[in-house]
Amino acid sequence: MILNEFSYIAVPPRTGGLEEDVRALLEANGKDKTFRHVRDVAGANAAIAAQYGLDAEKCRAAALLHDISAVIRPADMLAWAQARGYALCEAELQHPFLLHQRLSRVIAETWFGVADGEILSPIECHTTLKPNAAPGDMALFIADKLAWDQEGRPPFYDAVSEALGRSLEAASLAYMDYMEVSGLLLCPHSLWTAARQWLRGR
Ligand SMILES: [Fe+2]
Ligand SMILES: [Fe+2]
Repeated sequence: MILNEFSYIAVPPRTGGLEEDVRALLEANGKDKTFRHVRDVAGANAAIAAQYGLDAEKCRAAALLHDISAVIRPADMLAWAQARGYALCEAELQHPFLLHQRLSRVIAETWFGVADGEILSPIECHTTLKPNAAPGDMALFIADKLAWDQEGRPPFYDAVSEALGRSLEAASLAYMDYMEVSGLLLCPHSLWTAARQWLRGR
């Protein structure tokens, strides 16, 4: 199991309650701030689920687990993925933290026992989105950005919230366009680029 492969990660026993177990693992590894973030994202994603008729429990679960790989150091994320022959894009090689979406999925499957693709898929693409994204994929992508992990309200908040009143696609594209126009993308991930093209064609 991936968590046992890193000697510095404390792995508390699971109790079966998802939020409690996510909290225990994150806090045992000094990631209290990440827990507060994922709890906020779970609230935001449940609201989006209600707005768009999605499964609220799956949306909450995906949100709680989406950043669970924060317990792994970014350099180790890269080494772990390379050792397993993962196909990596240039952005992941330059910024290994981008791998956290893929490794969070691995932890969700192997430690939390999640097998539902409607929970795993949003976790795996929450930073980049992907072409042909499902509503649940877009919901977590947006919730993660609106309930961001930095101080104050994000600068794109109004644009993305307003677009969310129209559609999940519009809100996803509003965030992507903001990032592109602001020059905040250091190196676009191949999935990000493909997802934005897909959204612009809809
Ligand atoms: Fe993340
Ligand atoms: Fe996040």
